[in-house]
Amino acid sequence: MEGLSFGPLSILPSLAEELNPHRVAFLTNTTVERLWLEKAAEGIEEPIRIVIPDGEKYKSLETAVAIWKRLQEEGFTRKSLLIGLGGGVVTDIAGFVASTYMRGTLLGLVPTTLLAQVDAAIGGKTGVNFNGKNMIGTFYLPNFVLIAHETLSTLPEEEIRNGLGEVAKYALLDRKVYALARNFEGISETLIRECALFKVEVVEKDLGESGLRRILNLGHTAGHAIEKLSNYRIKHGLAVSMGLMVASKVGEELYGFDSGKTEELLKKLGLPTGHPFRAEEILEEMRLDKKAWYGRITFVIPVEIGDVVVEEVDEAVLKRALEATRDDSGSGDCQKPGGSA
Ligand SMILES: NC(=O)c1ccc[n+]([C@@H]2O[C@H](COP(=O)([O-])OP(=O)(O)OC[C@H]3O[C@@H](n4cnc5c(N)ncnc54)[C@H](O)[C@@H]3O)[C@@H](O)[C@H]2O)c1
Repeated sequence: MEGLSFGPLSILPSLAEELNPHRVAFLTNTTVERLWLEKAAEGIEEPIRIVIPDGEKYKSLETAVAIWKRLQEEGFTRKSLLIGLGGGVVTDIAGFVASTYMRGTLLGLVPTTLLAQVDAAIGGKTGVNFNGKNMIGTFYLPNFVLIAHETLSTLPEEEIRNGLGEVAKYALLDRKVYALARNFEGISETLIRECALFKVEVVEKDLGESGLRRILNLGHTAGHAIEKLSNYRIKHGLAVSMGLMVASKVGEELYGFDSGKTEELLKKLGLPTGHPFRAEEILEEMRLDKKAWYGRITFVIPVEIGDVVVEEVDEAVLKRALEATRDDSGSGDCQKPGGSA
């Protein structure tokens, strides 16, 4: 597994030096360049600076081509180090470019959003969008990931909440994360560390995503459908939060799971506990997804905190869970989380 380090940006030069690279290039976007590139590059000799526009739509092959070209012009080699500094969009493209340029260069990731620190930068999945999200990509483990808590100090509240959706997911999957999250008073280094380490542990057991890694889809089956139905107005993390509530209701009916624990947790984190759609609309969206995956879409169901099963669920059960979690009062808005970063 990749070397996961927790510490300030000032340790980046020593992480880079350990790899003895020919050259170092930073890949970042316009927003993170302004906020963090100078600090990250301190102590690294004449790094190449590649800055892409900010936004999911730039997670594209066109952007990858532009980066490959620039690396070639700069004489970047397989023994050079590409450092992706940014949110999940940047870390996904950095991984993709590093895995494909000259069949693979050295790669370091410095995730700067909560979502990227607990999820996107961990586990070796890289990619770009191409007629669909993440349609072109590779599995490529970075040489290091540096989780620098300080970078979250500039992250907007909305992006913190986006990441908290994934934190809530880990809390249902892991008792240690649950214990921290239910007493949430702001994003702590410990909470991020426990989430990140949990993902590392799962991924280490299943890099190719054939088995255990599927548990990381908890909340995502209904969540994706909700995200799509809202035309992506509902952000990923909030849709996942709604999806966790749906999955918990399914768990309650099938395995006696206490969905009140999920509700309490989501409220503590300032996340929505209900979705704004009709059950039939979400089911229809899920059926489309199921078709896209050759009818093999399964559901991750909480049995108790720290324990889930992965199985197909009868539509009637799903429908009841979707009806029980509908909240058309305010399209999933909710109170602020118990503190800030
Ligand atoms: N590879 C994986 O396993 C995996 C897992 C989950 C998500 N993803 C991908 O991650 C992407 C979403 O990641 P994201 O939520 O980080 O989005 P993002 O990268 O678009 O970042 C969100 C916003 O925050 C800004 N930002 C980043 N760091 C900042 C900082 N420190 N201060 C202020 N602003 C900052 C960005 O410029 C952007 O505007 C999606 O493309 C998704 O497919 C990948």
